[in-house]
Amino acid sequence: MKIFVTGGAGFIGSNFIFYMLKQHPDYKIVCLDSLTYAGNLMTLIPAFDNPNFSFVKIDITNRAGIYNLFEKENPDVVVNFAAESHVDRSIVNPEIFLQTNILGTQVLMDACRKFGTKRFHQVSTDEVYGDLPLDRPDLFFTESTPLHTSSPYSASKASADLLVLAYIRTYKLSATISRCSNNYGPYQFPEKLIPLMISNAQKNIPLPVYGDGLNVRDWLYVEDHCAAIDLILEKGKIGEVYNIGGHNEKNNLDVVKTIIKYVGKGEITFVKDRAGHDRRYAINPNKIHTELGWLPATSFDVGIKKTIEWYLNNNEWLSNISSGKYLEYYDKYYAKK
Ligand code: NAD
Ligand code: DAU
Repeated sequence: MKIFVTGGAGFIGSNFIFYMLKQHPDYKIVCLDSLTYAGNLMTLIPAFDNPNFSFVKIDITNRAGIYNLFEKENPDVVVNFAAESHVDRSIVNPEIFLQTNILGTQVLMDACRKFGTKRFHQVSTDEVYGDLPLDRPDLFFTESTPLHTSSPYSASKASADLLVLAYIRTYKLSATISRCSNNYGPYQFPEKLIPLMISNAQKNIPLPVYGDGLNVRDWLYVEDHCAAIDLILEKGKIGEVYNIGGHNEKNNLDVVKTIIKYVGKGEITFVKDRAGHDRRYAINPNKIHTELGWLPATSFDVGIKKTIEWYLNNNEWLSNISSGKYLEYYDKYYAKK
């Protein structure tokens, strides 16, 4: 079994690679990543010694390059994590989000069709459903909740989902989609809430909470997301969408206060709200639970403690990724080849 993992030098993709190499020692994993600011080869150091792992620097929008790679490597499965993933950046500059998240997905699916790849899996997000009101805790996103996006990021992800569904119906592409809630864990780029707050607390920089801090996210430990995707690849039904989430809703203020407690310091500052800021996300994971038997294994209390400890013990990773030193690492890595 050979799997192409796109975006594998980023947060969830790298965790997925580690997970798959451990769970399936006989699988071959090829990581395809263009190494944007969010992709970091240093993150993949634990995988480089594994003979079943290889890395290719490539942009998923590069049709000719992607076709060459498919022809050469002939993957059985493609799992598409590659994306521009940060909502705030999409508000400042939407264009690259449309290019990578929509057109990049199209190129990968065209390659799957052209070279007869047996399976394509699109890693999507709960943000495609828009948001829920805070005063209706009885409401949750199901797979049939209408798509109703708020940011250029979520609009680009929803567009890609629609394109995947169109390819399934029109070209009989063998594909599945998963829509997951907010992930946290090791190797997340420190522009996202949890690593940013840990990093700022450590450096005695104020912790910037948007608006009133009462926005709710449904947090899932990254390894549980990886396990869910693995299960969907094994047992998921072609053409289906699976929501992934663990009923773990917290408002931002509570998350930040938990971080301050574990790090032992940190001062909150309330800053201007994000434009179009989604109020609440909450996944109903009933389908993946009842049909595939998936349940999250890590509670928020355990996961957040593990995550904070990981960042505190991996200061070098954090400072390198923030300083752009990983680009030097890239040059060094390739100079050796
Ligand atoms: P990330 O920003 O940490 O990583 C994205 C990776 O994609 C990086 O390594 C980057 O270099 C690579 N990439 C970007 N553009 C590329 C291109 N054109 N060609 C090749 N590689 C490219 O993102 P993440 O948080 O790991 O998210 C991964 C996927 O999961 C995304 O599709 C995102 O929409 C989805 N998702 C994320 C979350 C979350 O909480 N982080 C939750 C649900 C779904
Ligand atoms: O729900 C899944 C999505 O979760 C993924 O699809 C996205 O790729 C991922 O980035 C994440 O989106 P969010 O916008 O929810 O994550 P972020 O970490 O940017 O913000 C989480 C919440 O914290 C949100 O309500 C905004 C708030 N926030 C964020 C930052 C960076 C702050 O209050 N202050 C901050 O500095």
